[in-house]
Amino acid sequence: MTLLRDEHLAAAFDHAARGYDLLTAASPGYHAHLRRSARRLGLPRYGEGLRVLDLGCGTGASTAALAEVLPGARITAVDASAGMLERAAAKRWPDGVDFVHAPAEGLADASVNGPFDAVFAAYLFRNVSDPDAVLATVRDVLAPDGRLGVHEYTLSGRRADRAVWTAVCRGLVQPVATVLGDGQLYRYLWRSVVDFDTADAFADRLRAAGFEHVRTLPLPGWETGITHTFVARRARPEAAE
Ligand SMILES: C[S@@+](CC[C@H](N)C(=O)[O-])C[C@H]1O[C@@H](n2cnc3c(N)ncnc32)[C@H](O)[C@@H]1O
Repeated sequence: MTLLRDEHLAAAFDHAARGYDLLTAASPGYHAHLRRSARRLGLPRYGEGLRVLDLGCGTGASTAALAEVLPGARITAVDASAGMLERAAAKRWPDGVDFVHAPAEGLADASVNGPFDAVFAAYLFRNVSDPDAVLATVRDVLAPDGRLGVHEYTLSGRRADRAVWTAVCRGLVQPVATVLGDGQLYRYLWRSVVDFDTADAFADRLRAAGFEHVRTLPLPGWETGITHTFVARRARPEAAE
C-alpha cells in the first residue's frame, strides 16, 4: 500500500478522531510513556515561564502529558487534522494551553512563531512527507539551546522487535480499528513504522539536521525496541557549521 500523506492523512485522522482515545486507552502504557518522554526533556522548574510547542498534538494525549509534567509552561499544541484538534480542544485544559490548526510545514502561516524553549513531537515524524524539512522548521522555532523531544515508533533493527510490532498490529490494533471504520489508517500505521527510520537512523537524521547532544532512550514493556524517546538540543550556529 502507498503511504498516506498530507491532506489524505489529515482526512484519515479526521475520521479516526472519534475512536482514537479508545484505542490509546487500550494501549498499555500509552499515556505513561508520553509522560516519561515529556520528563526526559529535562526542563527546569516544572516549565515555569517556558514556552513549549506540541507538534502533531492529535486529540491532546501528548499535550496532557506535557501539561502534567510541566504545569508552569505555556503550551501551544498544533495539528493538521481539524477532527483530531476539535477533540483535543473540547477537553478541559489549564490556563496557558492553546490549540492551533496548522500543518507542521506551515507554522509561520498560522502565526506559530518561536522562540520555543522546547518542541515535543509524539508520533509525528513518521507521518510527514519531508521529515528533514520539518526538523529544519523545528530548529528555527527553537530558542538557542532549545530542546527537542521526539517520541516515535522507531524499530531497533532486530527481527524480533519487528515481529512483535507486526503481531501487535495484526492481532490487536487492526481488528479493533477495522470495527471502528479506520482499518485503512491502522494498516498504514504498520507500514509507516516498518518503512521509517530505525532508531539509530533517526538519531543520525537529528544530528544531520543540526541537533546536538542527541540521546536515544528506550521505553519499557512491549514497546522496548519499538518506541523510543529522542532528546536533543538545537546546535549553536557555530557547532552546526
Ligand atoms: C498518531 S497521532 C499522535 C497524536 C498525539 N501526539 C499523541 O501522542 O497521541 C499523529 C498526529 O499527527 C498529526 N499530523 C500528521 N502529519 C502532520 C503534519 N504534517 N502536521 C501537523 N500534524 C500532523 C495527525 O493529524 C495526528 O493527529
